[in-house]
Amino acid sequence: MRRPRGTRDLFGEELARIRHVERVILDIFRRYGYQEVETPVFESLELFTKKSGSSIVDQIYAFKDKSGRELALRPELTAPVVRLYNEHLRSSPKPLKLFYLGHCFRYERPQIGRGRYRQFLQAGCEIIGSSRPEADAEVVALTAEIVEELGIKKCELRLGNVRLLREVLKRAGVSETEQDPIMRAIDSRDEIRLQAELDRWGIEEEDKKLLKSLISLRGGEKVLEDVRELIQGLPEATKALEKTKSIIDRLKWFGVHKFSIDFGISRGLEYYTDFVFELYSGGIQLGGGGRYDNLIELLGGEPCPAVGVGLGVDRIADALERHGVETPEDRLDCMVLPTTDEIIGEALRIAGELRRAGFSADVDLMGRSLSKGLSYANSRKAKFAVVVGPRDLKVGKVTIRKMKSGEQERVDRKRLTEFLSLG
Ligand code: HAM
Repeated sequence: MRRPRGTRDLFGEELARIRHVERVILDIFRRYGYQEVETPVFESLELFTKKSGSSIVDQIYAFKDKSGRELALRPELTAPVVRLYNEHLRSSPKPLKLFYLGHCFRYERPQIGRGRYRQFLQAGCEIIGSSRPEADAEVVALTAEIVEELGIKKCELRLGNVRLLREVLKRAGVSETEQDPIMRAIDSRDEIRLQAELDRWGIEEEDKKLLKSLISLRGGEKVLEDVRELIQGLPEATKALEKTKSIIDRLKWFGVHKFSIDFGISRGLEYYTDFVFELYSGGIQLGGGGRYDNLIELLGGEPCPAVGVGLGVDRIADALERHGVETPEDRLDCMVLPTTDEIIGEALRIAGELRRAGFSADVDLMGRSLSKGLSYANSRKAKFAVVVGPRDLKVGKVTIRKMKSGEQERVDRKRLTEFLSLG
């Protein structure tokens, strides 16, 4: 039997890298004042079909339970967090800053080298209740801080705003609800597909040209000025551009100066209403998010603005490996090796004391000879071996061996933990 396609068994260094990424991300969420939430792995299918966008809907693992309820494994966590907010937290003081870590499931074509899995781990956060640009900037800033703290140097932050494209489409006669297939074609960066969509809607040449110019203008802040000229006469788009500019000002106050502007970002999910951003490394999307001011109302709540980000933990861990970033190893501190069977009891007691003092300690459970025990300790990458022999014990001592150098020292059994803390 083999594991299902698109899933992974995790162990060893790969899992240690994932755990390290989780720790750094969760720590940063807490440092920014977010509170953790957890939602079920499966939800009503309807939660995701309402506004997540058909590209996601096509990828949903949906099923009926024994009572015929239509359920789905969650493909993402923003809609579930909004549902949780609507069910439990709608009267909490604003803004509400929530974070989460959990598995998501998408029936996509797996591509292991590009970090595309059918079960993957997402960490993310949402600010609910603030429409101010500081909130958008904060979410981008903490994303930048995560990759910086993890040591991923070659990263690209791209900032955009879907409102601009949507306003052009509106003027061209395509209503907001009909725009999604065009937005998806833009997201695919496939020119032929986009042309076909624009032709299908009979969009005038002038608007087609404007859309294509908006999508192709990418780069530094100067792009904002070029875009301003292009969208003259579209007041809502101009407002969105001004808002993007004030988010960028605040982002710099947060200390983030490395980013590019790209109004071609339209995101795969359809709930975004204006500001959006994506984080890339080596052509792979590590994270993305933006503002979704209508989703809370759409899912049954009072109108309430919100902005957030989702990060692919597996992809970030893969990026660490690609960039050769060292991650802390989960190393064993001590391997306790009794030299004879008669003193295994004492060895177990010593291991217990070490564990209570906060060290990771293991006792050989195979009855190995000392030399085999030492090579086992080596294979476990233990920092120390604590050799427990009857003669040492009689005089209240044990022998500590530094595994790397092979140096040995006899120490007072009572002072063992103290000695190891210094070592
Ligand atoms: P998303 O861009 O669909 O956004 O997913 C966020 C991140 O999850 C991606 O950038 C990627 O790193 C990772 N990811 C997505 N699909 C896969 C996959 N098949 N295998 C591995 N990793 C994957 C969202 O899900 C939004 N809920 C983000 C958000 C939060 N927007 C506002 N708040």
